[in-house]
Amino acid sequence: MNIPMSSPDLTDAERQAVLEVLQTPILSMGERIRRFEAAFRELTGARHAIAVSSGTAGLHLCVRAAGIRPGDAVITTPFSFVASTNVLLFEGAIPVFVDVDPRTGNISPERVAEAARALAKGGATARRFLPPSLRRQDSPPLRAILPVDVFGQVADMDPLRAVAAEYGLKVIEDSCEALGATYKGRPAGTLGDYGVFAFYPNKQITTGEGGVIVTDDDEAADFMRALRNQGRAPGDTWLQHTHLGYNYRLDEMSAALGVVQMSRLEELLRKRERVAAWYEAGLREVPGVEIPFVTPQTTRMSWFVYVIRLEAGIDRAAVARRLAERGIPTRPYFVPIHLQPYMVERFGYREGDFPVTEDLGRRSLALPFSGVMSEEQVAYVCRALREVL
Ligand SMILES: Cc1ncc(COP(=O)(O)O)c(C=O)c1O
Repeated sequence: MNIPMSSPDLTDAERQAVLEVLQTPILSMGERIRRFEAAFRELTGARHAIAVSSGTAGLHLCVRAAGIRPGDAVITTPFSFVASTNVLLFEGAIPVFVDVDPRTGNISPERVAEAARALAKGGATARRFLPPSLRRQDSPPLRAILPVDVFGQVADMDPLRAVAAEYGLKVIEDSCEALGATYKGRPAGTLGDYGVFAFYPNKQITTGEGGVIVTDDDEAADFMRALRNQGRAPGDTWLQHTHLGYNYRLDEMSAALGVVQMSRLEELLRKRERVAAWYEAGLREVPGVEIPFVTPQTTRMSWFVYVIRLEAGIDRAAVARRLAERGIPTRPYFVPIHLQPYMVERFGYREGDFPVTEDLGRRSLALPFSGVMSEEQVAYVCRALREVL
């Protein structure tokens, strides 16, 4: 059996919606974008939703809106997809990594508080938190916290917000993996100053490529709308550009696809929950396998991927190889950001800098996952894993 790593869940309604756009002359900045954005306001209760061309683009606009400038420090997590850190580097900001909670893989609020305290104090204590190659410089001003809702589980946002309030920091919530999740009953994406969702085809909903920013901040929303559209502020003509902006617009075909996917969100999330439950039942008792941990404050997990951890000492590469021989692809989710070649080169990070992240990075294995997987396919993966182990 050959099983895909992930698959979008599309119906004729999505195909029809895209074709309908192609029967009109408006392929960008039209009615579908407005409807897509409205669906996010409705889902999250946020005052503003801004559709953009990718999750990365959305996060980048939040970094600009938060006023993060070259040399500013931002506390974030090394256990994430690289984009959450890259958007800081785009603006010349300094990522201040802190380690994660070993159970969830989400940024540790205690470590964040420690780093914020140290950076506020300055001097040698602060420098200990900076990237190794920057430890000789003065400690930079701390501007923001950028937590990530890893694998569809919202980070522990209440203590993070408390740290942000204490030190006057902005919070950018990277909810690219967590559309539809809730934390103590509150929707992912709404727990900081700005939240961002992403819609690559392996995500809970897809637009091919795309993202949405949500925020309650009127001024920031105007600014980000301008930046996504080449810096055109309200009142600017097509060739007037108040700000340095980008082309981060989402096109109408993608938005039309997204409108239908959003109308099916509950169905899509339920199907993913069902697949996760099959995995859980199939893997709970398998020696050497740790299944995902969901904290009690996660009132809804929005399953993005299904990532197990292998017991220390098990040769993960060999397991992945043997599974691949049986038509089962896997991924080592995540390779820690601080150990990516460009980060090592630029900042001098080494193995051992963030032990919890590195341990998770070494032992995590994402199994094939999507809402369209059948019970039979999940059973096949579970059986194969048991045999291979
Ligand atoms: C945590 C996280 N942040 C950011 C992104 C970036 O989203 P995109 O691929 O749409 O740019 C992703 C998705 O790939 C992600 O998983």
